Amino acid sequence: MENGWTESAAAWIAELGDGGDFGRACVLDRPMLERVARGDFATALDVGCGEGRFCRMLAERGIKAIGIDPTEPLLAEARRRDPAGDYRPGRAEQLDFADASFDLVVSYLSLIDIPDPAAAIAGMARVLRPGGSLLIANLASFSTAGNWSVDLLGRFRFAIDHYLDERAAWASWRGIRVRNWHRPLGSYMALLLDAGLELRHFAEPAPYGGDPRRVARYRRAPWFVIMEWQKPSS
Ligand SMILES: C[S@@+](CC[C@H](N)C(=O)[O-])C[C@H]1O[C@@H](n2cnc3c(N)ncnc32)[C@H](O)[C@@H]1O
Repeated sequence: MENGWTESAAAWIAELGDGGDFGRACVLDRPMLERVARGDFATALDVGCGEGRFCRMLAERGIKAIGIDPTEPLLAEARRRDPAGDYRPGRAEQLDFADASFDLVVSYLSLIDIPDPAAAIAGMARVLRPGGSLLIANLASFSTAGNWSVDLLGRFRFAIDHYLDERAAWASWRGIRVRNWHRPLGSYMALLLDAGLELRHFAEPAPYGGDPRRVARYRRAPWFVIMEWQKPSS
């Protein structure tokens, strides 16, 4: 069990269903697709595409997308749902594409899963064409350093600790058990800047629908970030 994804694939596919889980369907999809709509993208690479949902969304918008992922059962599900799609085995750290191949590179909740973000981000920048964008949705670093707990007065609190210490931890929910990485936001920013990319958009998206109790919980704590980084044109 290197990272838990193969063993968790069936539960993950069930969790996402047709519409996506809460974080995707009610917080991230809309602002991610708004960024896509603002750009001029004909080709895309989705790094850590999972069962292919964002590739399918890109294809619906006329964008020719390739999805890569190291987890075979997720790729099999992506191909089953989208037989005309292009889904390939691969790791973010070793992108098997020529320089400047894509208008858009997407990392949709996959940076937290990638063991070597320095190699991954350098590779994502390399395969982008000048002027192209790297669009990232990630768990907020405050979130990966935090936990819900009950304080001494019985109040439900989100406590952040050991924020500056990079570490891997196993996360479990509804039959899924996978290894995620916590890294301070500054670590990701430094790697993106070192790759020569320029920040064009940064957001901490709020829920736009769904179960009100869940909406309230997602508004209490830092949960997600969205960033769009552009490769300079010259
Ligand atoms: C949280 S899922 C996100 C999947 C998809 N992007 C989505 O939003 O539904 C994280 C994905 O990262 C993939 N992954 C794990 N290690 C990876 C690596 N080194 N390079 C690329 N993807 C990786 C997993 O197989 C999994 O599909």
